[in-house]
Amino acid sequence: MAVKKASEGFSKELMKDVQKWGGMKQTGVSLRYMMEFGSQPTPRNLLISAQFLHKELPIRIARRAIELQSLPYGLSHKPAVLKVRDWYLDSFRELRSFPDINHENDESDFTQMIKMIKVRHNNVVPTMALGVQQLKKDLNPKINYYKDLDEIHQFLDRFYLSRIGIRMLIGQHVALHDPNPLPDCVGYIHTKMSPIEVSRNASEDARSLCFREYGSAPDVNIYGDPSFTFPYVPDHLHLMVFELVKNSLRAVQERHMDSDKVAPPIRIIVADGVEDVTIKISDEGGGIPRSGLPRIFTYLYSTASEQLNDDLETATTMAGYGCGLPISRLYARYFGGDLQIISMEGYGTDAYLHLSRLGDSQEPLP
Ligand SMILES: Nc1ncnc2c1ncn2[C@@H]1O[C@H](COP(=O)(O)OP(=O)(O)OP(=O)(O)O)[C@@H](O)[C@H]1O
Ligand SMILES: [Mg+2]
Repeated sequence: MAVKKASEGFSKELMKDVQKWGGMKQTGVSLRYMMEFGSQPTPRNLLISAQFLHKELPIRIARRAIELQSLPYGLSHKPAVLKVRDWYLDSFRELRSFPDINHENDESDFTQMIKMIKVRHNNVVPTMALGVQQLKKDLNPKINYYKDLDEIHQFLDRFYLSRIGIRMLIGQHVALHDPNPLPDCVGYIHTKMSPIEVSRNASEDARSLCFREYGSAPDVNIYGDPSFTFPYVPDHLHLMVFELVKNSLRAVQERHMDSDKVAPPIRIIVADGVEDVTIKISDEGGGIPRSGLPRIFTYLYSTASEQLNDDLETATTMAGYGCGLPISRLYARYFGGDLQIISMEGYGTDAYLHLSRLGDSQEPLP
């Protein structure tokens, strides 16, 4: 099969426009701003929001499209990466060909369009993972994934962080149109989110997956004040806790599979501080060797033997992509938090998920 050239199928003018918009300055928004602005979704505010997105989204998308074309080690030419690049260029073209938004009708058409753009990009993460996997196969097996491919890791960090921002902005705008919003919800933001409740749901989802894969699942015990709430995006927290609990379940399960003793439970502790809400997830799954620690946040490192295939439908397994940790850390950082992993080899692992309570931090804009 002939390798498709970097911008085949897209006109020169479009590529010039991409260059121009990719050089423009991005504008960030904070959680607090989104919450305050979204609490009054009047037609006028929705119009302002659409006008902002009409200008901001092409800037952010163009930046990513440009970067996707100049990745090292030939990653840009891998079929999966080309597919992703095409999604970005298609979305850029649609946004740029949409006329100025002056009336409610324009606003509603625009909202429909960006909703579809979000759907188009649903599978970006597994598709990029596939591209990276394709690259990994070609490279010398002696390559040090952590050191030599640092440029790729840094690119993926920027790329996925930007994707989180784009999806948050689109999702928030679309959700503000909901005629019957849930109580205490402003778009994607829950102004009284209970971290315990979200952690419980995410743990149950991870346990169901574990049941499916191993036939049993260790318990997950959650400690903290059940009545405590703070403003955050439940979907983001769900994703992070789901990934962390999945890792813990897998570690505990693998370690205790052949033993007739009951597997030790995973413990989740939720602490509410003034600056941060911290969620600690502790397991007795044997830990991670110190030499492996620098690699766990890279996108190429997984100890799962699972080979990825092109069929993205089967993508929900306990482990395999090696993106769970780095992506969870990006979600935490997006609103000013962080994720740390501390391990005791031979015993277990503690993951500290810090979520910023203040919501004032500006969006990081790679
Ligand atoms: N709680 C844990 N106990 C032991 N090892 C862990 C734990 N969490 C992560 N690891 C190690 O770090 C690696 C990377 O984790 P990560 O979640 O990023 O990817 P993965 O679980 O392999 O794949 P996936 O993308 O499906 O999550 C794992 O393969 C595993 O070796
Ligand atoms: Mg994982």
